[in-house]
Amino acid sequence: MSTQAIGIFDSGIGGTSIFKEIHAVLPHENTIYLADSKNAPYGIKSQDEIIALSIKNTEFLLEQNCKLIVVACNTATTNAISHLRNTYDVPFIGIEPAIKPAALNTQSKAIGILATKGTLSSTLFHKTTDLYSNGIHVIEQVGKGIVELIEEGKTNSEAMKSLLSDYLKPMLKANIDYLVLGCTHYPYLMPQLLEMLPKHVKIIDSGLAVAKQTKAVLEQHSLLNTSMKMSNNMFYSNGNVTVLKTILENKFTVKGLDF
Ligand code: DGL
Repeated sequence: MSTQAIGIFDSGIGGTSIFKEIHAVLPHENTIYLADSKNAPYGIKSQDEIIALSIKNTEFLLEQNCKLIVVACNTATTNAISHLRNTYDVPFIGIEPAIKPAALNTQSKAIGILATKGTLSSTLFHKTTDLYSNGIHVIEQVGKGIVELIEEGKTNSEAMKSLLSDYLKPMLKANIDYLVLGCTHYPYLMPQLLEMLPKHVKIIDSGLAVAKQTKAVLEQHSLLNTSMKMSNNMFYSNGNVTVLKTILENKFTVKGLDF
């Protein structure tokens, strides 16, 4: 039993989509979320830069005495998690695009994956894709500019619609029946995507799987918070605090950080 917080970080506000899944599965767990929005997007940075930022974020969360770290960012996971696991003693949970369920269930034998350049060019992503994509057409699309718009609070904008329409075109042409959201910012695009995609296309992400894995790992390490008290969920951002508050529907405490 441990009342220490779960630490969660992302390049920005996207990882709050993962926080929401974790909070639903583990409502009594205290959490500390760090949005490194000042340095977003990570997806266009080099692997060395992503590793350096992931170290900085991890150390901030460890200074707050976190018992486990969730890397709520596909780009940081695919580029830096093995480095983090080799460096620190706490358990790490990462997030990777849900290629496996899409590849196993596709009927049209064509799946789309929307992710950052950093994720799509990583060795870890290719390893997973190669493992499951035999005989399946995988249309990989870099979501250039999407993270920036979400970080600016322009999720529901004409600029976003225009980017999405360009990015979905080759996927629709290939007759995909699964779209994998390979970035934790992208679940916030669900209303737009549902409007733009034919009804039979299933949109999947890894949020719930990450929350279940977090619970399993806490259990394994006897680190679950078994107290029935209301949890304390704290959010820090070194960027635009208002956008973070809005995405959290003003339900949680958000603090600005010079970081
Ligand atoms: N939320 C991050 C991810 O899952 C966005 C990366 C970025 O900042 O480019 O990949």
